[in-house]
Amino acid sequence: MEKEKPIGVFDSGIGGMSVMKQLISAMPNEDIVYFGDTARVPYGSKSNATVVEYSMQIAKFLANKNIKALVVACNTVSSIALPSLRQKYNIPIIGVIEPGAEFALRETKTGRIGVIGTRATIANNAYSKSILKRNPKVEVFEKACPLFVPLAEEGWLKHKAVYDIAEEYLKELRDLNIDTLVLGCTHYPILREVIQEVIGKDVKLVDSGVTTAEVVREEIDRIGFLTNSNSMGNQRIFVTDINPNFKDVAELFLGMKLKEIDKVDLETLTA
Ligand code: DGL
Repeated sequence: MEKEKPIGVFDSGIGGMSVMKQLISAMPNEDIVYFGDTARVPYGSKSNATVVEYSMQIAKFLANKNIKALVVACNTVSSIALPSLRQKYNIPIIGVIEPGAEFALRETKTGRIGVIGTRATIANNAYSKSILKRNPKVEVFEKACPLFVPLAEEGWLKHKAVYDIAEEYLKELRDLNIDTLVLGCTHYPILREVIQEVIGKDVKLVDSGVTTAEVVREEIDRIGFLTNSNSMGNQRIFVTDINPNFKDVAELFLGMKLKEIDKVDLETLTA
């Protein structure tokens, strides 16, 4: 039965669990298979060709798990690899950029929107293209904040260093008087308190994961594939590397305890 198949979710690493958290909250009865490429993260500093190659390997792995839809939780992958993935697989494939762009446009009152993300997401102008395609009248200001990723993975959520780095990255956007800021990277939602303090309390922060989960739910419902189950869904986690910190950091992103985690060898993935 199509309805009882799991939803596949993937990210360059563990940050995508911030998106999985939203998926669980929007669709608690769905089974999820999550793949995090923890051996090869970060993708945000890699070339587009490499990001596409890795994404296709992961999609193949998840397709073999018989998924009914694929959620690309990674902003970097969503900004680069969606056309290649959609060309190859005939299931709903949902990235985080379009839902995040919609959300930002819903929130802004002044039409001045900031976007932060990895170098690759910002260099590809993924959010600005998507926002301006929907409404060419707004203004979008983008800024790469690559150091937020290792800080979040270190679990430094309110450390002084995070404030200093956030000040350095965000002062430009603050001076541009934006009223909405898109957290265009899986890792940024867990740093939101510091980001909010530094950018100013009146700026609305947009977590793409929230609207992505809504879009995924709508899309699966539209094609009649929502599960009939009334019990809590199961999450299977596959990663390419498990370091000693992994579980703690993953649970920080997910906001709940993780059960089983399986390691997938890169040789198997790339075979
Ligand atoms: N998952 C990535 C993203 O959302 C951040 C980590 C990375 O650079 O791979 O863009």
